[in-house]
Amino acid sequence: MNRKKVAIIGSNGRLGRSLQEVCREDHDLIGLSRYDLDLAWSDGKIREALDSLVVGADVALLSAGNTNVDLCEAQPDEAEQLNVTSVRSIANWCAEQGVRFINFSSDYVFDGEKDTPYTEDDPVEPLSIYGQSKVDGEDATLEASDRNLVVRLTWLYGPGKPLATPDWAVDLAVKQDHLNVVSDRIGSPSYTGDMADALLPLLFDDSASGILHLCNSGSCTWQEWAQFCVDCAIECGVEVKTREVGPLTMNDLFGDRATRPRYTVLSTEKYEAMTGRTLPDWREPLRQYVRDHVAPRFLRI
Ligand SMILES: NC(=O)c1ccc[n+]([C@@H]2O[C@H](COP(=O)([O-])OP(=O)(O)OC[C@H]3O[C@@H](n4cnc5c(N)ncnc54)[C@H](OP(=O)(O)O)[C@@H]3O)[C@@H](O)[C@H]2O)c1
Repeated sequence: MNRKKVAIIGSNGRLGRSLQEVCREDHDLIGLSRYDLDLAWSDGKIREALDSLVVGADVALLSAGNTNVDLCEAQPDEAEQLNVTSVRSIANWCAEQGVRFINFSSDYVFDGEKDTPYTEDDPVEPLSIYGQSKVDGEDATLEASDRNLVVRLTWLYGPGKPLATPDWAVDLAVKQDHLNVVSDRIGSPSYTGDMADALLPLLFDDSASGILHLCNSGSCTWQEWAQFCVDCAIECGVEVKTREVGPLTMNDLFGDRATRPRYTVLSTEKYEAMTGRTLPDWREPLRQYVRDHVAPRFLRI
């Protein structure tokens, strides 16, 4: 089979690692870390890096960015540089070189006021600097070429960076007598491995352009997400001090930090119609993730 070449900018992030994992078997990979291409660089320096490293790529995926929502609020110029200006440089370079470009965006482009899943056609109304920067990054991606694709994701977790909800929820349940988690946010916990796998059939398909939503199916509150993680850890034999996760409100937790949308379940009907595939329910991949990546850290051998 003629192997195609896939460039992944942000290869050390959670999603970047999963993308590499699923692409490795059938495609040639070019992985770029922050050291190869820093999104803080000027347009000229980013282009130099792309010229020398992304040689002959069929598609370039950008999974790097400033993903720290509160830091973006405190440092809007950096959010703009990392999530918009550098995206425009990469998107324009790709268009000039005939490389299809896929960028990742976020459920935070919405205000969370709906109570049914958001479709790709729903108007964006970001509540935070991070959300606005992702909207502007989407625009920069799609303006550069009509072959480009923006994939919106939500409530991501996965191997590589143990900082997501399953990792800290179990950690705190082991260490603390009480654990309270926000109960007035609703979303769909989404496994990076499933997101990367779902994208495989669309990687080189120019007709899959514009905006696309991907998430595991089903939904829950953040408190229910944390509770499920703790339950899975207990199933694996992890000794916890907190068995029942209590409720908090967003106001209790975030106070005057960046405002988060209340409801951000994404509709995947467009993806299902395009591919004939459905995404797995959120619980089973999460159970496996806790078993393989979280519980072993707390089990005595
Ligand atoms: N996490 C979520 O819940 C979530 C939800 C919706 C959408 N998304 C979107 O999904 C995409 C992937 O998210 P993720 O969870 O995989 O993020 P992540 O694990 O935080 O990874 C982000 C990557 O960006 C890199 N990066 C940060 N600053 C950089 C810079 N100045 N130059 C170059 N690289 C830089 C990081 O490099 P280092 O490894 O060197 O730090 C890291 O590899 C992002 O576009 C994000 O906005 C995420």
